[in-house]
Amino acid sequence: MSIRISDDKIIIKTKNTMYAMCILDKKIPIHLYYGKKIKEAMLPEIDKKIRSFSPYFDVNGEIYSRDNIKQEFSFYGYGDLRATALRVLDLQSGSDVTNYIFKSARSFFGRKEIQGLPFAEGECETLEIVCEDKVTQSELCLYYTVFYDSDVISRYFTLKNNGNGDLKILKAMSMSLDLLDKDYDLISLRGKYAYERVAHRDHIYGGVHRITSRRGASSHQFNPFFMITDRKATEEKGDAYAFNFVYSGSFLDELELEQSGLRVMVGLGDESFSYLLKPSESFSSPEAVMTYSSKGIGQASRNMHSFVRSAILPKNKIHPIVLNSWEAFYFKLDEKIMLDFADGACSVGIDTVVMDDGWFGARRNDNAGLGDWIPTKEIFADGLGKFVERIRSRGIKFGIWIEPEMVNPDSDLYRAHPDWVMRDAKREVLLSRNQLVLDMANPEVVEYIKQSLDRCFDGIEIDYFKWDMNRNIAHAVSPYLPIERKGETQFRYMLGVYELYDWFVKRFPNAVLENCSGGGGRYDLGMMKYSTQIWTSDNTEAKDRVFIQHGSSYGYPMSTMSCHVSNRHGQCEDERKLDYSFKVAINGPLGYEFNILKADQRIKDIISSQIKEYKNYEEIILNGDFYRLKNPSTDGCYAYYFVNGDKTEIFVSYLQNGGDAKGKTHKLKISAARADMNYKNLDTNEVISGAELRRGIIVVADSEERYGKTWHFIAE
Ligand code: GLA
Repeated sequence: MSIRISDDKIIIKTKNTMYAMCILDKKIPIHLYYGKKIKEAMLPEIDKKIRSFSPYFDVNGEIYSRDNIKQEFSFYGYGDLRATALRVLDLQSGSDVTNYIFKSARSFFGRKEIQGLPFAEGECETLEIVCEDKVTQSELCLYYTVFYDSDVISRYFTLKNNGNGDLKILKAMSMSLDLLDKDYDLISLRGKYAYERVAHRDHIYGGVHRITSRRGASSHQFNPFFMITDRKATEEKGDAYAFNFVYSGSFLDELELEQSGLRVMVGLGDESFSYLLKPSESFSSPEAVMTYSSKGIGQASRNMHSFVRSAILPKNKIHPIVLNSWEAFYFKLDEKIMLDFADGACSVGIDTVVMDDGWFGARRNDNAGLGDWIPTKEIFADGLGKFVERIRSRGIKFGIWIEPEMVNPDSDLYRAHPDWVMRDAKREVLLSRNQLVLDMANPEVVEYIKQSLDRCFDGIEIDYFKWDMNRNIAHAVSPYLPIERKGETQFRYMLGVYELYDWFVKRFPNAVLENCSGGGGRYDLGMMKYSTQIWTSDNTEAKDRVFIQHGSSYGYPMSTMSCHVSNRHGQCEDERKLDYSFKVAINGPLGYEFNILKADQRIKDIISSQIKEYKNYEEIILNGDFYRLKNPSTDGCYAYYFVNGDKTEIFVSYLQNGGDAKGKTHKLKISAARADMNYKNLDTNEVISGAELRRGIIVVADSEERYGKTWHFIAE
């Protein structure tokens, strides 16, 4: 049992962490502690310091203030004047004051489903705390699901309207956590299109800090994942808390550092979300996840990696080595080109050829055809089915690109249903990449997409789908939703998207799904529930990828990160660049993205030997434990290693990216190597002791700015 409910406390334990709360006066859930395991007697007391001006209440002669105590879950309007997690408006009285009082707590093995939303699954135990606001007659249930081995606790809430009047949720955060009053750093993943998820570390100053997306997608600009660390924490030492959100739409990570300490919240926020709760209706928030490590930032990342692998990602899926047509041909596809492309792919040992955008309706450029999921006769004279048979008869698997949530105005779908896109009826629609966003909040639209994809791929053996989403939502107004529910548009858009994903993975159970949103614009745990991997970025320049991949590793296992060797800037004509591109790409599942029809035999030979080499260490890259060694933003190079469970196999990589001066030396300390073992370097056959690996491999920077080196060790 990892949850213990006693008279005076509720304690949650994971393998290495402890979380504690108590119920003040049997009424108010108070947060006591989250950190490494300690004796219960050492748990902090409730903070009784009252700051002037803070509203207070009396419990048996003792004074407390909601504004000062650490709360399990914070709500607006009744004495907590900090940023709060829940704000509910009573539409009858116009009051937004609520006071949720503890009613009961219980724990059970397993968990409840969150209706319509993706959630973590696997071996787990759940704590349910029920609270009630007597005036609005609404019931608030707080859920804590414990994933013991990964040291992860997930949280969400359900709000039920048991009264007779309408309520409106104005702000919904899935969790709030009041941390000890200390000095912290924030590590967040920020960027832009084609440069997403670069890791930044900032000191948390006083005030409110919001990491947010209002774009209808988790976004290129800000990822929901973040860490809070002590100021001196390193990869291997110090306290690190990590947080994430199992959701793919607009979100808010909100931190407030004020007189009582740091409050950390993850949820839907208040800018792109509101929700009408009629009598007897209930609402569930998406799930937030958190972990803690006392052994530094690296361990917090590994906790998240192990959690994502065991509780989020689809099970029993492979990561094929793909050759994708996009950078090779863009929209200039035809059957002959694709068949030759497949032959080229076979000749170097690639196992799946992926036909990207440009194969359906009038889609010969990005101006037209999106939404019309009918294979174009111009390309497939005998139909898509025959074409796929021809590809597969070459002994290679087949993948295809789709973008189901979008439509070009120049399409049959839009001409037939102009009312099926997100729009404010009184204003011109705003285009982005010549496309509009379908109203996925409308069940009829979702049903239509299901039917057209079903018709398009029925009876055709497709091994791999790349599901794209190539713009953000601007005017998020669903024509379908009634006026009083328009504020639910973004949330209900995501419910529609998840319903479609859910249907899709059941309809095509054997296919591998790669998610994409102009690269990594939806690189999040919601999408990872359905997709084995995600197209990391549209930026395939290896030197830039180093930053993007390094940043992604903080929250996401490397197996989720599609990494392609491409011929940007002639990388494929130049052997050194090709080697560097490959060394950068083997940080995750390998693929290729270039015109193999233009490659000469020399290049093809290099590629087939790369693929053979990759297969020697593919398993450890996809499933090993990941350790960051060098940070490209601060160390001038990127270095990391993977190690298997019993530490008998280690794969190390060092990647220069122009930041290193020639001759500069780095020590790559492989601290996970076992001191009692000897390891053989599989490239040189030299034997090196684990103790020496722990002291560090010395690497000297090369004069080439694009230079990489790898080491593959096996215990003797
Ligand atoms: C997005 C993707 C690319 C490619 C194009 C096709 O930009 O990220 O990989 O699929 O769309 O239009």
